[in-house]
Amino acid sequence: MSLHINATQGAIAKNVLLAGDPLRAKYIAEKFLQNALLVSQTRNIFYFTGTYKSQPLTVGASGMGCASIGIYSYELYTDFNVDCIIRIGTCGAYTTDLKLLDVLNVNFAASESTYAKYAWGIEDDAIAYQGNAFEKINETAATLNIPLQSCAVHSSDTFYRSHAAIPLIAAKNNCPAVEMEAFALFANARHLKKTAATLLTVSDILPTHENITADQRETGLLPMINIALETIIR
Ligand code: HPA
Repeated sequence: MSLHINATQGAIAKNVLLAGDPLRAKYIAEKFLQNALLVSQTRNIFYFTGTYKSQPLTVGASGMGCASIGIYSYELYTDFNVDCIIRIGTCGAYTTDLKLLDVLNVNFAASESTYAKYAWGIEDDAIAYQGNAFEKINETAATLNIPLQSCAVHSSDTFYRSHAAIPLIAAKNNCPAVEMEAFALFANARHLKKTAATLLTVSDILPTHENITADQRETGLLPMINIALETIIR
């Protein structure tokens, strides 16, 4: 049990996939896990534990933003002894060099968020993935023949803003994509000496206002989900 995850001790696996959306976590658990059990539903933030190809795995939700993933990933690492969290999410592209449904493995997250500073005294405005999951993800994608690019992302604190221009922090750190969580996940993992990676599927091209359809939200995310699941059993 922890403050925001009411699972019993031992009900969360060592490896966790974190989607932003609880219903996406439910979809993945129902479609890909064997013997999936709902182990926490505090605030309707669902966690399911089952097995994938005989390996114990938990799939759950982080909510949106550094504040939210900061809470869930901290409790998973500390109260449930989780070793590895792979975030699976969507992102916007600041540039038309990225295409809808491209899959990205995040090598570092840059942010204007004060999360890392106030939580752990980490002054850096860019934080790398932690541990070996990033490399395992690259190897897995190569084995599965799924195209995957490594890149930096901007973990933004804002989804809506008055200016369309690329924010300074993203320009400074050469971030072609934007999401809202990787920075806090990587900060927690760095402080706690745990493993964390972030896989993203491009859902919006910001300069052209293109975005993926509702159907693509179901099927377009499958390559990313497949890479994450197969990485866990690698
Ligand atoms: N901004 C922030 N996060 C996102 C976006 C975006 O445009 N698209 C998907 N996640």
